[in-house]
This record gives sequence, structure tokens and C-alpha cells, in this order.
Amino acid sequence: MSQYTQELKATAQSMVAPGKGILAMDESNGTCNKRFEALGIPATEDRRRAYRELILTTPNLSQYVSGAILYDETIRQSTADGTPFTQAMKDRGIIIGIKVDTGAKDLTACPDEKITEGLDGLRDRIAEYYKMGARFAKWRAVITIGKDIPSATCIEGNAHALARYAALCQEGGLVPIVEPEVLIDHDHCINSCYSTTDRTLQAVFAQLRLNKVDFEGMILKPSMVITGKNNPDGQASVDEVAEMTIKCLRNNVPATVPGIAFLSGGQSKEDSSAHLNAMNAKFGSQCPWSVTFSYARAIQQPALDYWKGDDANVAEAQKRLLRRAELNSAASIGKYTADMEKEAELAGAAS
Ligand code: 13P
Repeated sequence: MSQYTQELKATAQSMVAPGKGILAMDESNGTCNKRFEALGIPATEDRRRAYRELILTTPNLSQYVSGAILYDETIRQSTADGTPFTQAMKDRGIIIGIKVDTGAKDLTACPDEKITEGLDGLRDRIAEYYKMGARFAKWRAVITIGKDIPSATCIEGNAHALARYAALCQEGGLVPIVEPEVLIDHDHCINSCYSTTDRTLQAVFAQLRLNKVDFEGMILKPSMVITGKNNPDGQASVDEVAEMTIKCLRNNVPATVPGIAFLSGGQSKEDSSAHLNAMNAKFGSQCPWSVTFSYARAIQQPALDYWKGDDANVAEAQKRLLRRAELNSAASIGKYTADMEKEAELAGAAS
């Protein structure tokens, strides 16, 4: 039992409070630069800082977002008026999160598979982040579906690393977000995604138990059970995704875990909201945990597309960010409808 047991439990519950989700804005510099370059935005520290300020200072964001996951560069940055981002977040009631893995690297002897690194020195980094005000962390493992993969080597290795990370976080006072992502790349069918997600979650929870992780002080961030994006036969329906995802989670996730906060994984913003909504509207009463969002692209993209690196566009971009947060908040309580997308478009066109 950690000295932080009660604090961890309270933080985890606040992260998935009703109607709230988590905003992922922890893109590494490489990923952030790629997204900037696609829109012609200069890939500089100054523009990354300005963009993160835009997100964190969006008026009323905390109505829909409990916490935000930062990258190491971002947690050390400040707003243009010199207020540290950590202080700006505290002032707005947004819990500070931090990505602590150091990325998914090629897995030796396993072609096309990845292993996430970052355990070396992690105890010290957690202590530093806690002192800076962080109260939760994130570690993403990547599982790829393809011919003869994922291998047991990949699943077990990543599950072990996730559990070692989670235990260290709890020792140091950070709620671990445990993120095993089954990629939507390739052409697999939804059944194949189901079986891979099931295998992965079984391994992850076995390792979490072995490493004595307290389920009440963690959040699971899985991918949804979904058809591969290049499947020539098209995509499974929204209802099928919701049903199979919840079935897979109910088979694997202990009831004591306070919340499940999905990644969007490259789904469209509309699909990300519709899938989350269907899970809550149809199966919410069968779920012992909160089921919410921890999206990056599915929340940020409209704001980034509008901003384009230009300070004159900040206020309008913030409205777009807030609107996506609002729609996903509605989806997290089963109150989202496709008509809300039309209203969102009209509001965007009118402004
Ligand atoms: P996406 O929602 O864009 O998949 O990002 C979530 C995330 O944190 C990936 O690690």
C-alpha cells in the first residue's frame, strides 16, 4: 500500500467524473511537428508553445475536461504572459498529466512490432513531475495486427512494461493511465480486433496483478474494438463496435477500476463520438466503470486546422476545441446525437 493510496483513488475518480473526459495533448515533438508541417505551421518550439497555450487557456474547457496529458517540453513551458502552464491548469481546475514513456521502438527479433521504452530512471522522473504538480501519467503500448502478429513476445513484453510503469507511478503519487493501443491500421476484420484486444487485456491485467498495482488508483486507456481502416468490406456498424468493445472490456477489466478513457486512434471525430455515445447509451447500465474519452486528434484536429499557426485565429480555434470537448462530454453520458454535428458545423460557418 502506497502513502498515496487515498490520493490516487480520489484523483482517478476526478479524472472520470460524470460528463468529463481527459484531453490528450502529449504529442512528442516529432509527432507535433508532423501535424504542424501538414498544415504549413513552422515546427518550432515557439509555435508548439503557442498551440499548447491555445488549448490550455480555452475558456470553460474544465466544464468537459477533467485533466490534460502534457509532454515533457510542455510541462516546463509558460503562457505568453509568463504564467507556467502548470499554474494556468491549476487556476482552471484542470488536473496535470504527463506522458512518461519515451516512445515505441522496434522490438528485437519481431519484425513490424514495437516495444515501449522508458523504465530507466522513471522513479526519479516521476518524483520530479509530482513536484511540478502532475497527478497522473500516461504510458502507451502499441500492438499491431498483421500476418502472424501480434506475437506473444510483443504482448507480454509490453504488458510487463505497462505494469512496471503503473506500479512506479503509484509509488510516486501519480495515477497511471495504462494505454495498450491495438492499432486500426491494416485490413483486419472486427473479430480479429476483438481477439487481439482480448489477448492484450488479459496479459495486461495479469501483469498489473503480478506487479501489485492498485486497480482503484489507475485508469485504463484502450482502443475500441473496430474494423481495420483498410478493410475492403467496409466498417462494422456503430452498434457492433459498441457491443463488442463493451463485451471485451467486461471480460477483462475488474470492476474496481474507476474508469476507462478511450483513445481515438485515427477514427474520424464523428465516429469517435458516435462509438463512445453508443457504449454509454446502450450498455452504460452494465458497466461498473465510467466510460469516457481521452482523445487527442478527435478533439484537437478542428482547432488545429483553423488555427494554422496564426495568433489571429486563436479565439475561433478555441471555440472549435470547446465544441468537440462538449460533444464528447455528451457522448460520455449517452446524450450525443449526430444532429449535434450539424449544429456544430452551422455554428462554425456563422462565426
Ligand atoms: P488519439 O486520440 O489521437 O489516438 O491520441 C490519444 C493518445 O493519447 C495516443 O497515445
